[in-house]
Amino acid sequence: MNIIPQHSLLEFNTLAVPAVAEYFAQVSSDKDIFECLAFAKKNKLVVKVLGGGSNVVMSEFIPGLVVQFCAQDCKVIQETDQSVTVKVEAGFNWHDFVLYCLSQDWYGIENLAYIPGHVGAAPVQNIGAYGVEVKDCIKAVNGVYLDGGDAFTLLADECGFGYRESCFKQALNGQVLITSVEFLLSKVPDVQVSYAPLNKMSAEKGLPTPSELARWVIEVRQSKLPDPKTLPNAGSFFKNPVVSTPDFNRLIERYPSMPNYPQENGVKLPAGWLIDQLGYKGKSFGHVSVHKLQALVLINLGGTGKDVIAAANQVCEAVEECYGVVLEQEPRLFH
Ligand code: EPU
Repeated sequence: MNIIPQHSLLEFNTLAVPAVAEYFAQVSSDKDIFECLAFAKKNKLVVKVLGGGSNVVMSEFIPGLVVQFCAQDCKVIQETDQSVTVKVEAGFNWHDFVLYCLSQDWYGIENLAYIPGHVGAAPVQNIGAYGVEVKDCIKAVNGVYLDGGDAFTLLADECGFGYRESCFKQALNGQVLITSVEFLLSKVPDVQVSYAPLNKMSAEKGLPTPSELARWVIEVRQSKLPDPKTLPNAGSFFKNPVVSTPDFNRLIERYPSMPNYPQENGVKLPAGWLIDQLGYKGKSFGHVSVHKLQALVLINLGGTGKDVIAAANQVCEAVEECYGVVLEQEPRLFH
């Protein structure tokens, strides 16, 4: 393992903003981690953990030691006729893991196909798509505390999971490195096609097998979401906001066609729809623009992290001014 000074992270963030880490190391064992923690302690550096870089906005200079955990082992730790528990190291590419599970006839995460990033980042923001959230298949999350290097295991119900939320973004933010995730997967197919476009496809073509469902999800994602390799982006840039019932009633009177999803604590609104209705699809803010096909996605063509945040702020201000709804940014600042 090398600890490299002044290392460019341009290739390590899907928004492709220029960024330089004061120090950077790719680690793949406990020994590497302890070496990094010792180096950071000796040089009084803050350790910052980077996953696949698909959900971050980086600043141009990142002080401290940026660590990326790259180990990719995957092993079965428990198995019955009905289910399997797999322990996957955090550096495994998420989509490759979904495909691997399907090849083994392990089911539960097929709706989450084609999401960029690493397995270790999946619990951090509780990735979710097409009616499934990863929390429903997570049994435990393992890692080490950056302060001291002690190991921890958190069971799923200790992770504070919510919509695009977990304790790793809250109380443990910046304090841990996730080394592996344990998933409880089913050997019995039970496809989830409640999400409207999948429901429509299954009405036309019949109920899919889990592998077919993954292919449908890939198709839907490819038709709406830009490939970061050609149009750098960080997926949904805003969370879908939850508004109170009185606020919702006020809005639906004004916008009767507004899609909405009732929740326990109010009503969730699609931020993409709110932005789209403003006529912002394809709108440019210098180097940064709103994607032509999905208003929730910002595309960066040559801008910096600051440019991305400035564009996001303009979108937020316009949404707040028009609807009185405050949008929350989804990608995390990496600075
Ligand atoms: N909509 C528009 N215009 C747009 C985008 C959306 O009118 O430009 C409308 C759609 O017509 C639909 C509603 O908004 O009625 C919801 O749209 P969609 O189903 O495309 O989902 P989303 O709410 O925009 C969320 C996730 C996505 C995930 C999809 C599918 C968040 C922040 N985003 O998007 O996640 O793939 O649902 O489940 O919750 C990601 O996190 O990076 C991501 C892509």
